[in-house]
Amino acid sequence: MNHYTQVWLDINIATMNKAPQGTEQEAYGAIRDGAIAVTDGKISWVGPRKELPEFDILATPVVKGNGAWVTPGLIDCHTHLVFGGSRAQEFEKRLQGVSYEEISRQGGGIVSTVNETRKADEETLFVAAKDRLNALMAEGVTTVEIKSGYGLDTETEVKMLKVARLLGEHHPATVKTTFLGAHALPPEFKGNADGYIDLVCNEMLPAVHEQGLADAVDAFCEGIGFSLEQTKRVFDKAVELGLPVKLHAEQLSNLGGSELVAKYKGLSSDHLEYVDEAGIKAMKEAGTVAVLLPGAFYFLRETQLPPIDLLNKHQVPIAIATDTNPGSSPLCSILLMLNMACTLFRMPPEQALEGVTRNAALALGLDDRGVLKAGNRADFVLWDVSHPAELAYQFGVNKVKEIVIGGR
Ligand code: NIG
Ligand code: FE
Repeated sequence: MNHYTQVWLDINIATMNKAPQGTEQEAYGAIRDGAIAVTDGKISWVGPRKELPEFDILATPVVKGNGAWVTPGLIDCHTHLVFGGSRAQEFEKRLQGVSYEEISRQGGGIVSTVNETRKADEETLFVAAKDRLNALMAEGVTTVEIKSGYGLDTETEVKMLKVARLLGEHHPATVKTTFLGAHALPPEFKGNADGYIDLVCNEMLPAVHEQGLADAVDAFCEGIGFSLEQTKRVFDKAVELGLPVKLHAEQLSNLGGSELVAKYKGLSSDHLEYVDEAGIKAMKEAGTVAVLLPGAFYFLRETQLPPIDLLNKHQVPIAIATDTNPGSSPLCSILLMLNMACTLFRMPPEQALEGVTRNAALALGLDDRGVLKAGNRADFVLWDVSHPAELAYQFGVNKVKEIVIGGR
């Protein structure tokens, strides 16, 4: 007889586990009237109820889902949720007609959050970030990536990443951290971007790495960020330290960032409104995930859509994330992102859901989650919905019924 820690019955399962090409399979990798068995924090069995191997029904706790749909725990693979202050007044300015780029050139934008983040102590940052993480988790997020990048000096970058690590320790969700020292030019380096990149490569990144604070390295490759050459220097240092890379690329213009990050076999290229076919082909070849951020597209009132058709044509895996940050995406709702991926980017709900599960795991280099299959972490969510498309269809109503993380 099989020994399970716990069993879930009376559920429908959107496993998001794609069958091999050519096999007949329901959308969402769906299993109707399914069962999930968990042993020691991992999924030990998932499939149709009637095929569930026999187990000790008296000794095993059984949860009945009442026909709930189960999805993998949602994964938000791109956030900046540790930061100080707010940029509501900048929002007012933008509504009066000043552009995001203009505000940034005037010394506002990212740099104004940098000032607030430098001033804030660890506890203040932790408390504010925890609220944001709680909001994400309330909608089924069980794994989240958090970037630095509002410090832009060694001390504050380290402080941000320590707060992110602490969140991971004190919160049930998994936290992956990313060093984003090359996010913007700090005021003290005005006119000396190369000098700042020296600091990033020679001091910040080594310090962060030595303390084990980063799982990956990111940069903002853009006219208002850093050039291709500067980004390359950061990536070379990351490679030297054995850290994977990813990139904010092609958000406001095309500098060829996606091709660059693909050259480094990067985990992901993120934003991508302006990516071209050469960039997409390079990403496909390298296995670099396209992370689309509909919240930033919406909040900045962008009009250039990311080229979804081209990404699909070349079968680049697409992930969707919140980009939670005070400037371009001040929101903490993964369900709203699902909705916007469909309404703004015209993605089918199934593909949007794949973007916050299976492909988001890929974008973080995690192979133990994102789909419901035996051997994976027991991270999953029971939803009070009649079809998985409802997750993307409706917003403002939270249909979470139960969240299971590591089997608990
Ligand atoms: O992902 N593009 C650069 N970084 C953030 C925005 C950060 C900010 O404005 O504070 C983004 O959109
Ligand atoms: Fe971002």
